[in-house]
Amino acid sequence: MQELKVLAMGKTLKILGFVGSLRKGSYNKALMRTAMKLLPEGVTLEVFELGKIPPFNQDFQSEPPKVVKELKAEIRAADAILIASPEYNYSIPGVLKNAIDWASRPLSENPFDGKPVAVMSASTGRLGGARMQYHLRQVFVFLNMYPINRPEFMLSNAADYFDEDGNLTDEETRRRVQDLIKALAEWTLKPKEKPKQP
Ligand code: FNR
Repeated sequence: MQELKVLAMGKTLKILGFVGSLRKGSYNKALMRTAMKLLPEGVTLEVFELGKIPPFNQDFQSEPPKVVKELKAEIRAADAILIASPEYNYSIPGVLKNAIDWASRPLSENPFDGKPVAVMSASTGRLGGARMQYHLRQVFVFLNMYPINRPEFMLSNAADYFDEDGNLTDEETRRRVQDLIKALAEWTLKPKEKPKQP
C-alpha cells in the first residue's frame, strides 16, 4: 500500500468505528474486522460498542449517561469516523441512529462537527444497503460532517462473500475495503475550509 503523508509527519491518524448491527454473526461487524486488518501504516481504528447505549431521552441531553459521555469524548478525539451498517426497512438501524442522536446533543457541542466520515454497508439484499447510506448522508448534512463521496462501498448478497467464521474471503472485496480506508485517510489529511455560518 502506498505510504500516506501522515507517516511522514510522524503522526497517527485515529479512526473511530461504529457498527449498526449487534448480531453476533453480523456481516457488517465482519467488514469492520476486515478494515482493522487492512489499515495503512500510521492509521488506527477502534470500534465503539453501540449496544451499551440506552435509548435517547432529550431530558438528559445536557447531563447524559456515562457511556454517552465516553462516546462523545471518543468522537471528539477521533480524526475520522468509519461506519459499517446494515439497512433496516430501507433506512438507518435504530441502534446506530440512537447513538448519533445522543452524541449530537446539545447541538452547541456537537462532536461530529467537521468530522470526515466514510460508510460501508453489507446486506443480504440486492442493493447492498444503498438506501440506508443515502439516509445517513442526509444526517451528515445536519451534523456538518464531511463524507467521502467515492469510492462508495455497498455489498449485496453478503452471505456469498464470507466464510463460516465471518472472514471476508473475496479478494476483490477486501481490496475495496482497503481502498475505502485509504480514501478516508487521505480525505482526512486534506485541509478543509470550514464553511462560514450564515
Ligand atoms: C433487514 N434486512 C434488509 N436488507 C436490505 O437490503 N434492506 C432492508 O431494508 C432490510 N430490512 C431489514 C430489516 C430488519 C429489521 C432486519 C433484521 C433485516 C436484511 C439485512 O440485510 C440482513 O439481515 C443483514 O444480514 C443484516 O446485517 P448484519 O446483521 O449481517 O450486519
